[in-house]
Amino acid sequence: MSIPQKVFKYYERYRSIIPDYDEFISYILKPLPYSIRVNTLKITPEKLAQRMESKGFILRKSKLHPWFFEVDCIDEERGIGATLEHALGYYYAQEIVSGIPPIVLDPKPWELILDMAAAPGSKTTQIAQMMKCKGTIVANDVSRERVKALKSNLDRLGVTNTIVTICDARRFYSDIMFDRILLDAPCSSEATIRKDPSLPLDLSYRLPRSFSRLQKSMIERAYHLLKHDGILVYSVCTFAPEECEEVVEYALKIGFEIEEVDIPLKYVEGVTEWVDERGRRRSYDPDVSKAIRIYPHFENSGGMFVAKLRKV
Ligand SMILES: C[S@@+](CC[C@H](N)C(=O)[O-])C[C@H]1O[C@@H](n2cnc3c(N)ncnc32)[C@H](O)[C@@H]1O
Repeated sequence: MSIPQKVFKYYERYRSIIPDYDEFISYILKPLPYSIRVNTLKITPEKLAQRMESKGFILRKSKLHPWFFEVDCIDEERGIGATLEHALGYYYAQEIVSGIPPIVLDPKPWELILDMAAAPGSKTTQIAQMMKCKGTIVANDVSRERVKALKSNLDRLGVTNTIVTICDARRFYSDIMFDRILLDAPCSSEATIRKDPSLPLDLSYRLPRSFSRLQKSMIERAYHLLKHDGILVYSVCTFAPEECEEVVEYALKIGFEIEEVDIPLKYVEGVTEWVDERGRRRSYDPDVSKAIRIYPHFENSGGMFVAKLRKV
């Protein structure tokens, strides 16, 4: 099977849940626009835009948040990762949809935050920026290799309120409880195909099912690490309901409540019913509809699923 054929076949299981499915498919293999988040710990958006535009980059404000811009590069060699401003930590090359989970988390200065699967640090550095580097973030990841990138990003962006830990999040124990937790969970990454067209797509869908089990264990640990009334944001870059609504339904069973999410980008609500590729009908707790799904054809972006949960 040629690659596009396999890609089309893989995503076919989502035909009934993705609005304007043919439009979705027409976007799935288009290259992703470049985007950045200005690091306001070091520079203002206006000053950075001026510097970049004087070098020939074209910046367009994102609807998501004033720190985010879409960028047209001059050419392949002078990309957004190869500027002095990047080396100085004036910005972070970040997908627009990747900026959503920290915005939903809404961390405040002086709080104690846990980022359970943090590397390479796109969201940790955004959270630090939102906290104006006041308070404490514990940024954890299981991968020693990826933690190197996390540390280097924290250094480059001048983040000084973060402790890095290397641990399987399912075995992350602490006597101190957190105000807010971000679980940007390991997932099948189906919604990142525009960034990585070589993504292995296994037509047996074993990956979504096995990630679902891991994600549920991680969410259970997050429950025990959160203060009463604390917020957990759960995000994954996949379309698979097994990793999205099924995990959120599990969170509701163990004691979380779900809250509405509202962001200034087009989205649809979480699915409550669908039929999988084997013809099995699945239905979830109606409350999972409060989660949000962003598809690539809505805003010419990657895809993302986000749920805001409160420990009650
Ligand atoms: C979606 S990526 C996180 C991206 C990161 N939040 C960011 O915005 O830069 C998922 C991460 O989960 C980590 N991971 C996988 N299994 C884990 C586990 N059991 N405990 C902690 N982290 C895990 C991976 O190493 C990977 O870095």
